[in-house]
Amino acid sequence: MAKKILVTGGAGYIGSHTIRQLGEAGYDVVVYDNLSTGSAASVIYGELIIGSLDDKNLLSQTFSQHKFDAVLHFAAHLSVPESVVKPLDYYTNNTCNTLNLLHCCQLFDVKKIIFSSTAAVYGQPEEYPVTELSPTKPMNPYGRSKLMSEQIIQDFAQASGLKYVILRYFNVAGADTTGKLGQSAKKAEHLIKVACDAALGRRPCVNIFGTDFPTADGTGIRDYIHVEDLATAHVDALQYLEAGNDSQIFNCGYGQGYSVREVLKMVQKISGVDFPVIENQRRAGDPACVVASADKIRTILGWEPKYNNLETIVSTALNWEKKLIALATLEKQLAQQNFRLGALLLENKIISSTELERALHEQLVTKQKLGEILVHKSIISTQMLEKFLLEQTWRKQGIWLQV
Ligand SMILES: NC(=O)c1ccc[n+]([C@@H]2O[C@H](COP(=O)([O-])OP(=O)(O)OC[C@H]3O[C@@H](n4cnc5c(N)ncnc54)[C@H](O)[C@@H]3O)[C@@H](O)[C@H]2O)c1
Repeated sequence: MAKKILVTGGAGYIGSHTIRQLGEAGYDVVVYDNLSTGSAASVIYGELIIGSLDDKNLLSQTFSQHKFDAVLHFAAHLSVPESVVKPLDYYTNNTCNTLNLLHCCQLFDVKKIIFSSTAAVYGQPEEYPVTELSPTKPMNPYGRSKLMSEQIIQDFAQASGLKYVILRYFNVAGADTTGKLGQSAKKAEHLIKVACDAALGRRPCVNIFGTDFPTADGTGIRDYIHVEDLATAHVDALQYLEAGNDSQIFNCGYGQGYSVREVLKMVQKISGVDFPVIENQRRAGDPACVVASADKIRTILGWEPKYNNLETIVSTALNWEKKLIALATLEKQLAQQNFRLGALLLENKIISSTELERALHEQLVTKQKLGEILVHKSIISTQMLEKFLLEQTWRKQGIWLQV
């Protein structure tokens, strides 16, 4: 029988690529996601349970209904600047909700977990490349919320026999090479996404923060890892734990860095658009160079990346952004058609265009009715739905116009 895997945050960017690979590898996948930044359309394998990790009842109900062999825990908030402004949100969602999950693992005897951590736990690295033994000194609440989660997982593993793999991702970028999946979160501020936005006319320019770093061209250097290779690292880590191996922490990067200028030049070259680039002062706390030592994951997991070149990363990201633009245009056209429920709700300012876009996106995949999706997500009440369905019927029959 196929092994059943719980994937929290599986409707998000990295989670959705991973569940596709898990599905292809023969696993049975259950995604648990509140769709705060993820989208139901991205869950192209397995079952989706829409819920939040702070809903302890739904979470334990999910554990009791399925016998999970392992948990992959992606769900989190992940904006460094936002974490500085809203630290409690970050400690609640990233750290406390990890505790909720671990309580369920304990209660339902799930003994394997793979945790999404980040290079932000290293803070300003003192050595290059950064190894898993480099000091961890996170410089913001996001990094600290993740490091605390790592420590809680380790303590619990020590006490309970849980086995874990903690994956510390460096800069994740790119999109699925077949164009089905990619980064959909609208607030994402990663350099490659921002540059693609500028190339496609959705931003006027791209800012470089710091041109006086001690690097060859003066701009910061980062290790960009293609999301498909990162997804493969999760499948490899799962198989490693299934083989009865010990808990581990691995860096996930290529061990090779690109400067901000190199990245921007690549986006300009591939897109053919010479978007404006504005040079600014350094931002506080931005390190000059963050590059992973990737030896451990290659040696112990036998991880073999396939997409480690900047051109592939940028071209897959750019194709995905073009697809998102085409999809948004289509959705707007749909919403503008007369008598559609979405158009009525928009017209009456019951929902925002973002809420409608998300729901239409979900509708394309789940084939559920739009009204059902909106009620399910508590965007509108059942009474409100009934009222507008009635109005829709009137309008379709022309009664509206006659009145
Ligand atoms: N993207 C990166 O560059 C990067 C780098 C380092 C680490 N990470 C880590 O990888 C993980 C996934 O990141 P991503 O880029 O795919 O982000 P994402 O925002 O696309 O995915 C996160 C998913 O978690 C869901 N979620 C958030 N809070 C939830 C909650 N309380 N209950 C249920 N679902 C919830 C969101 O709806 C979303 O689908 C995160 O843990 C993040 O910290 C990402």
